[in-house]
Amino acid sequence: MSFALGKILHEDSEIRRLLYSAKELQQALGWIGSDVQFYQREAKKLQEVAGFSAHIFRVASDLLKEGLICLDCSCGKSYISFVLNYLLREMYGLKAAFYGVDTSLPLIERCKAIAALLGYENMSFWRGRTRQFEPPVPVDIVLALHACDIATDEAIAKGIQLGARYIIVVPCCQNQVRGQIKDEQTLRRLTEFGLLRYRFADILTDAIRAQVLRGAGYYVEMHEIVPPTVTPKNLVITARKTRSGKKGMEGYKELSRLFGVHSPIEGLLQELFGGDKD
Ligand SMILES: C[S@@+](CC[C@H](N)C(=O)[O-])C[C@H]1O[C@@H](n2cnc3c(N)ncnc32)[C@H](O)[C@@H]1O
Repeated sequence: MSFALGKILHEDSEIRRLLYSAKELQQALGWIGSDVQFYQREAKKLQEVAGFSAHIFRVASDLLKEGLICLDCSCGKSYISFVLNYLLREMYGLKAAFYGVDTSLPLIERCKAIAALLGYENMSFWRGRTRQFEPPVPVDIVLALHACDIATDEAIAKGIQLGARYIIVVPCCQNQVRGQIKDEQTLRRLTEFGLLRYRFADILTDAIRAQVLRGAGYYVEMHEIVPPTVTPKNLVITARKTRSGKKGMEGYKELSRLFGVHSPIEGLLQELFGGDKD
């Protein structure tokens, strides 16, 4: 892929433009509907997916030349994987393979049917929990778009277990940590109002996720994939595996002690590694 083409994939406006003219893909994904509300909802999803795709291409550009293997956790209708595959394979003839995992059988069946319709034999789908999925080949990128609550933590733990080069997640609702925040804690004045409690729990949950990823040897950054007017759930946590192999959960332990909360990732890592991940 030439430098110029690579640049195109870094811009979500360019990706949106490419997707608006991809009629066969739109038809297969069900984005062409007669109902206006339906179309508006799907157009919003298209913006999220374009923003997320551009972000993935920007941060993981080193993988584009050699080809990439991607695990889409809590894939749902797998819009992000279908779009990434369309752009990489159809538009630029690059090598790519996708695994999608979701607990919903109807959604997995739907994804399989769409892949067959589009002739995407490099995409496969599995029904079950992310934590249970064992990909048949090493995975480069583990991603999750709006995987509800602990499903985002499962994607992170799975990515760490698989030693993925990138773990890129856009979290959704976060109930686990919020439920643990106690009123008698030192910083209770931060959380005594319902709305602030929600926002604070979101921030704390993602800060904890970042510290766990760091502790597991990843370099972590946070960005926004789209403006908050498209979706308030627009934060993306990007983790790149570092060569230094420096590990240690001090950052996580500090947060956990300070706020008296535990991340579900702690238990998931113990389950996946069969011991303490320290
Ligand atoms: C809000 S949807 C997001 C779907 C898709 N990623 C998207 O952006 O459109 C969340 C999906 O997570 C799936 N899910 C929930 N818990 C899961 C788990 N532990 N493992 C795999 N999938 C899960 C649900 O079936 C649902 O399809």
